Amino acid sequence: MDINSQNVEQIVRQVLQEMSGISAPAASKAAAGPIPAKSRAAMLTALEKYEIKEFPIPELGDDDILVKVEGCGVCGTDAHEFKRDPFSLIPVVLGHEGTGEIVKMGKNVKIDSAGKPLNIGDKVVTCMIFADDPNITMFDLNKQNVGKGAQVYGLIPDDEIHLNGWFADYIVIRGGSTVFNVSDLSLDERILIEPCAVLIHAVERAKTTGILRFNSRVVVQGCGPIGLICIAILRTMGIENIVAVDGEEKRLTFAKEMGATGTVNFKDHKGIEALADAVKDEFGGYLADFAFQCTGSPVAHANIYKFIRQGGGLCELGFFINGGDATINPHFDICSKEITTVGSWVYTLRDYATTFDFLKRAKGIGLPMHKLITHKYPLSEINEAHITNLKMEGLKIAIINE
Ligand SMILES: NC(=O)c1ccc[n+]([C@@H]2O[C@H](COP(=O)([O-])OP(=O)(O)OC[C@H]3O[C@@H](n4cnc5c(N)ncnc54)[C@H](O)[C@@H]3O)[C@@H](O)[C@H]2O)c1
Ligand SMILES: [Zn+2]
Repeated sequence: MDINSQNVEQIVRQVLQEMSGISAPAASKAAAGPIPAKSRAAMLTALEKYEIKEFPIPELGDDDILVKVEGCGVCGTDAHEFKRDPFSLIPVVLGHEGTGEIVKMGKNVKIDSAGKPLNIGDKVVTCMIFADDPNITMFDLNKQNVGKGAQVYGLIPDDEIHLNGWFADYIVIRGGSTVFNVSDLSLDERILIEPCAVLIHAVERAKTTGILRFNSRVVVQGCGPIGLICIAILRTMGIENIVAVDGEEKRLTFAKEMGATGTVNFKDHKGIEALADAVKDEFGGYLADFAFQCTGSPVAHANIYKFIRQGGGLCELGFFINGGDATINPHFDICSKEITTVGSWVYTLRDYATTFDFLKRAKGIGLPMHKLITHKYPLSEINEAHITNLKMEGLKIAIINE
């Protein structure tokens, strides 16, 4: 088929879609523009060393999707892989906070995981690949925890296709994966979907305690991207009384911009009693009804109980990887205070759908979500991007494809 007839077909499909709101029959499912034979991908080949490699773009299966990557966030997990390879993935194409445009798809691909039509040109993100439970749907309310069988593009072992992570020009989304049409969100918003889904899930877990309410006093400990997004989500829920705790003044200032009413720099207070008093002062003489623990520090985990009132609640989400043991006093910290604690681990498909709504609401009430992405690098400077991330100079670092 020549380029012209492909263009005409594309236009007809688009018009049909606008008229009916559904996908037009897809005879050819390739983008009008040329698709190269090869794609660049940043492969982590050794500790602290990405190499830009080129891999052939494979033939697509009938259920596969080829996505031209527009951008991808650098996550704390990528930083751990870069430094230490705790998941033993090297050599690997990383990048799991990515988004891009569909340029080609197999003939069976018609709708996304939420039932929305999928077409060439649509902007998408992927969620989990449920290897252990392929029948899971986003409407399965009983699926509280994704368990160990789930995989994510950007954290899967290298194979003969190689284009398995978003730190690349193209990614091959295999049939059976979860994919969402998010064409109505900006590139920056789409890059933030994955970390935001972590907090949507954490807040959903927190709500199961019955303690988190409109007028709750809430402590958010840790003001990295995770804690800051937590504050934003609480604000979109109408929770206004939020105290942020961190040791970095710049991050605490941003926490206020995101909607925290008070801040406490733990470095200004000697000992846990003084620190807890400082938190209490910020709430006008009260301890918190609920707390979110958003650091990977065991000391911070031990401290947070002291900020919570009798009968209050805690959501611990800071330990995506093993950070070591924490010492608490079960009598004072949990038992006699009757603290209700929930743990939170990644997200479900359903949390993704909630995240898309959250991002629109955050924009609607003027939260500065766009400021979370502080640094942008091209793919060719991916090593520099990771070094900046390790230095904790910014917040969210993103790779944006030229
Ligand atoms: N539950 C999940 O599924 C999930 C998903 C992603 C990330 N995480 C975890 O969330 C944590 C936060 O992620 P991030 O990207 O925001 O990390 P980050 O390192 O950018 O932020 C952590 C913040 O905690 C602050 N901090 C450190 N010690 C503290 C203390 N004692 N008291 C108060 N603040 C302290 C730091 O100054 C920093 O600002 C990480 O440990 C990560 O592993 C969990
Ligand atoms: Zn991540």
